[in-house]
Amino acid sequence: MYSTDLLQGKSIIVTGGGSGLGLAMARAAVQHGAQVMICGRNEERLLKAVVEINRASNRSNAALAHRADVRQVDQVQALVNATVDAFGKVDGLINNAAGNFLCCSEDLTPNGFDAVTRIVLYGAVYCTLAVGRHLMERKAPGSIISILTTYIWTGSAYVLPSACAKAGVLAMTRSLAVEWGSLGIRLNAIAPGGIPTEGAWSRLMAGEEVEADARRRVPLGRWGTKEEIANSALFLLSDLSSYQTGDVITMDGGSWLAAGGQFSHYRFLPKDKLKEKMEAMKSKSRE
Ligand code: COA
Repeated sequence: MYSTDLLQGKSIIVTGGGSGLGLAMARAAVQHGAQVMICGRNEERLLKAVVEINRASNRSNAALAHRADVRQVDQVQALVNATVDAFGKVDGLINNAAGNFLCCSEDLTPNGFDAVTRIVLYGAVYCTLAVGRHLMERKAPGSIISILTTYIWTGSAYVLPSACAKAGVLAMTRSLAVEWGSLGIRLNAIAPGGIPTEGAWSRLMAGEEVEADARRRVPLGRWGTKEEIANSALFLLSDLSSYQTGDVITMDGGSWLAAGGQFSHYRFLPKDKLKEKMEAMKSKSRE
């Protein structure tokens, strides 16, 4: 889709890069010329991911790993320092690390709320500020992406901490896009709908029936793929999007719009039946 040197010379940090979407975006960035530092809490998973990424791109040491918990500001700074030591600089960041679980909000404990918001909101803020300060020291431009969700706009039942935290990351994205725009530091986000990954599905899909019903409601008729999200991440990291900041790319197959459209559910009727009904209504209205 893109030229393989799209991100040549760029050094990028991907949080939560050991699995799922993070791993897919890190792999795609390396395959398009970047040097990538993935971080996460599980060292074994990170090391496995690094081997896989470097093998897939046929480039040794283009991907490296650094264990860091994004909730700990000192570990975030150590992550940025380690990336500068390894690659000489940081040009981009993907705030991908997340936590989420389904829970009736009346049963949510303070610790439960903190567990998610500290990863999603605090983690993204800590990483963004650390990378932003580094870019300012270098007087260099940069691209910072956050992986959000379409319920940043609508909110969502049963995932209250995630909805609050991700909406906060959108506010960060838009605030800093303006504050840091004159420095050439761009902040954008991607709002995916359902993308099947072990991490998300095991925590959010309450069984096969629920999954099939949710999939049926996606206007494009299927879930998205990690690779499709990675395509948008490559675009936002690259100079192809050099005039784009404070923006959110929605990638949900049309789901959130369909959920809000008052008459969108008519699409589930067979077309001939629907047209029959419409014709009958039309005739009646002319009587
Ligand atoms: N329902 C209700 N509460 C839950 C919960 C669930 N499914 N899972 C965790 N919690 C609560 C715990 O009960 C605890 O609160 P308590 O002390 O009042 O009982 C609190 O959250 C912390 O749990 P703990 O397991 O110690 O936290 P953690 O920091 O290790 O885990 C999570 C954080 C919960 C977000 C964990 O799932 C995680 O690390 N996930 C990362 C990956 C992920 O979620 N990916 C999906 C992205 S879409």
